[in-house]
Amino acid sequence: ERPRPLVAGNWKMNGLRASSEVLSEIMAGYGAGLRNRADLLVCPPATLVAALAGAAKGAVGVGGQDCHAKASGAHTGDISAEMLADAGASHVIVGHSERRADHGETDAVVRAKAEAARRAGLVAIVCVGETQAQREAGETLTVVASQLRGSIPAGAMAADLVVAYEPVWAIGTGLTPTAADVAEVHALIRTELGTLVGEAEAGRVRVLYGGSVKPSNAAELMAVANVDGALVGGASLVAADFLGIARVY
Ligand code: G3H
Repeated sequence: ERPRPLVAGNWKMNGLRASSEVLSEIMAGYGAGLRNRADLLVCPPATLVAALAGAAKGAVGVGGQDCHAKASGAHTGDISAEMLADAGASHVIVGHSERRADHGETDAVVRAKAEAARRAGLVAIVCVGETQAQREAGETLTVVASQLRGSIPAGAMAADLVVAYEPVWAIGTGLTPTAADVAEVHALIRTELGTLVGEAEAGRVRVLYGGSVKPSNAAELMAVANVDGALVGGASLVAADFLGIARVY
């Protein structure tokens, strides 16, 4: 039995208050049929989490894009998992490659953030993925396995963990791995999860693919074994495209 699919949109640093119209369009298009087949999640910038969570009223989930490991304190500019939960978020992305690259986040930092998410009652969407250089060097599987071992908290459960495989070179480039390449990495992720959280729990963890997912390639990518949904960047900013991806389920 496959986990229930999750299609998550990561708005990254895009969106002003007027962008809540995108959420309204998504909610309007999230009809009963689709609702029975997949969960939808929108991760806007932190400034919009409370407004969107209020507007979504549970129909579509709202998540944060990052959190601090601590619950509160002298960390100017940071936002805690507790604050995201208080604002109405259900999920938080941690360890996105843009955070790892722009803010030097290590696996240990990512794991602490995932632990914070669980502490606050949020689902952590832990991101992993190789760079172009690592793929060309044949290091994809070892890099992804190492990131998983370093980033996933001990005792994680399917109820508080989602994994997103995002090849760095596929993000925002229009490039995607072949279905066979995605299958190879997702099988590795499922196997590693078995070691990390136990076989039964590993089978229930949703493993998303992310990187240039759009309506035209979503059906092929989502049909790959061990792909339980998508983490969508650019295409999640347009309601019709985001829904077009979700409707492959
Ligand atoms: O979190 C989302 C990913 O980084 C994918 O972004 O769909 O714009 O390639 P993209």
